[in-house]
Amino acid sequence: MPDKIIVAIDGYSSCGKSTIAKALAQYAGYTYVDTGAMYRAIALYTLKNSITDNDAVIAALPDIQVGFTRIDGAQHVTLNGVDVESQIRTLEVGNRASQVSQIREVREFLVAQQQKMGDDKGIVMDGRDIGTVVFPKAELKLFLTALPEVRAQRRFDELVRKGEQPDYEDVLKDVNDRDYRDTHRAESPLRQAEDAIVVDNSHLTPDEQMEKIIALFNAKIINLKS
Ligand code: DC
Repeated sequence: MPDKIIVAIDGYSSCGKSTIAKALAQYAGYTYVDTGAMYRAIALYTLKNSITDNDAVIAALPDIQVGFTRIDGAQHVTLNGVDVESQIRTLEVGNRASQVSQIREVREFLVAQQQKMGDDKGIVMDGRDIGTVVFPKAELKLFLTALPEVRAQRRFDELVRKGEQPDYEDVLKDVNDRDYRDTHRAESPLRQAEDAIVVDNSHLTPDEQMEKIIALFNAKIINLKS
């Protein structure tokens, strides 16, 4: 009977996984791990070093150290010890991350690190393969979804807030392309674990979603203790 559990949150890009995962981790006093940021850090390394060939990406893995640090209470991803949090949140890096995440060796490299982070439980991890590959025995698995148009609008608003001038149709196309790649790749495609609970947040406010997820978390803890 564990005191702490592992919460695996998977789902499509831009459906608010990280916001909800962060909030749940804070509520539970757990560690939050954004695995997408880890794929993005590797993508950034390949962009910075002009590495396009998959074999060259694999050969570079021993030179790449991905980690996390806390800045003003927020989690920032580091690449070889340097805080790259703001550099990884661009469309270019997101697209490259979607490509490098298709490479089996890249996935094995990061999955091993992610599994270690769960040794002591008390973790909320979000990504695409957390409930299926990284922690198939996670006590609570959530699969978040939202309509592509809703997700595109959210990403559009986020880019505008950052001072970028995106085109909505481009953003929507990007969301659809990424969904296709994430669900059709050969290695650990995004899919719902059989025992995952689906939460469609297209028409939920952030507060409503949070309430729902905290209720699921508390129900799971009570259930495991009884
Ligand atoms: O969640 P995100 O947009 O930051 O993820 C960036 C890319 O990384 C996304 O296209 C899919 C990939 N990814 C993955 O393959 N497996 C994960 N566990 C997390 C992200």
